[in-house]
Amino acid sequence: MAPMIGDNAPPVEVRCRAPDSGRNRKRAAASVINAMIKIENLVKTFGAKRAVDGVSFNVERGEVLGFLGPNGAGKSTTMRMITGFMPPTSGRVTIGGHDVAESPLEAKRLIGYLPENAPSYSDMTVLGFLKFAAELRGLAREARKKAVERVVGLCHLDSVLHQSVDTLSKGYKHRTSLAQALIHDPEVLVLDEPTDGLDPNQKHEVRELIHRLGKSKAIVFSTHILEEVDAACTRAIIIDRGRIVANGTPAELRAMSGLAGAVTLQAQGATAEKLSALGRVEPLNGAFRIYPRDKSAVAALAQQVIELVNREGWKVEGMYSERGELDEVFRRITLPDTVKA
Ligand SMILES: Nc1ncnc2c1ncn2[C@@H]1O[C@H](COP(=O)(O)OP(=O)(O)OP(=O)(O)O)[C@@H](O)[C@H]1O
Ligand SMILES: [Mg+2]
Repeated sequence: MAPMIGDNAPPVEVRCRAPDSGRNRKRAAASVINAMIKIENLVKTFGAKRAVDGVSFNVERGEVLGFLGPNGAGKSTTMRMITGFMPPTSGRVTIGGHDVAESPLEAKRLIGYLPENAPSYSDMTVLGFLKFAAELRGLAREARKKAVERVVGLCHLDSVLHQSVDTLSKGYKHRTSLAQALIHDPEVLVLDEPTDGLDPNQKHEVRELIHRLGKSKAIVFSTHILEEVDAACTRAIIIDRGRIVANGTPAELRAMSGLAGAVTLQAQGATAEKLSALGRVEPLNGAFRIYPRDKSAVAALAQQVIELVNREGWKVEGMYSERGELDEVFRRITLPDTVKA
């Protein structure tokens, strides 16, 4: 089992940038200007509890940021503050250059928000609800019609258009809420568990949609499904007890896995003793997993295994390099919620 990091463990920082250079400095300066979502030292306390404890990050246009963390980590609270639905205790959020506290209307105009518990508009049909949402966003008659058609298509709502929202199944309710968030084609999307309650086909559809929309928008979405990070995100943040504990591309996060870079070999004649010259060996049901001695040995390990196989004349039945598991990283750097209480 993966080792657990305790309460006092330092946060894990993934370095996303190469050593500083003129080009990187220019890129960093440009990214500050381009950041559609800019969050600075955000704090939210509920009584003695610091639900969000000094969170800072930027999201640029073209980025899809996966927001991960165990139950109660502070994801929804952070998203409520980003969208101006909850005032922060301290800190600052700017959306497209508009301070959410000082210019809420300008900021909110740029945002589409799928809240965690989507409000119910029981007596409205799906069509009525979406028209209403378009009206609230100030869309004129013709634009309203087009916008409704667009989101109905994107969220596959044709079959329930005339059904009241109240009587929809959970998945369709959720898709109606997502359609509402997209109605004004906003530049910024904040989606709180957008695939929650959807069947596998719809989960796949929504991930694809987020991935596609992310090419031209700035998107933050929270999820408990780690495969969504690979499917849809350009970057992911893991938050635990209100603090960011990891921040990087999916590949960078995976590389933090103890498994990353290990080579698994199944070969007739292979022995743990011979393989142990290359690194720590773990026997696995007729195969062996060889772990690199340190991160600098990762690149060379597969080649060394091949050379050893050839030298010894072993007959290879299977061999692959492990790229690391996101859920192992997640478990290693966040404590299970049940242990925290
Ligand atoms: N209005 C509130 N009053 C008091 N405590 C709150 C309130 N809203 C959230 N909290 C607390 O803040 C912490 C963070 O909650 P939040 O809903 O942000 O977590 P989350 O990361 O979204 O969790 P989940 O994965 O379960 O959705 C929790 O301990 C929660 O109980
Ligand atoms: Mg939540």
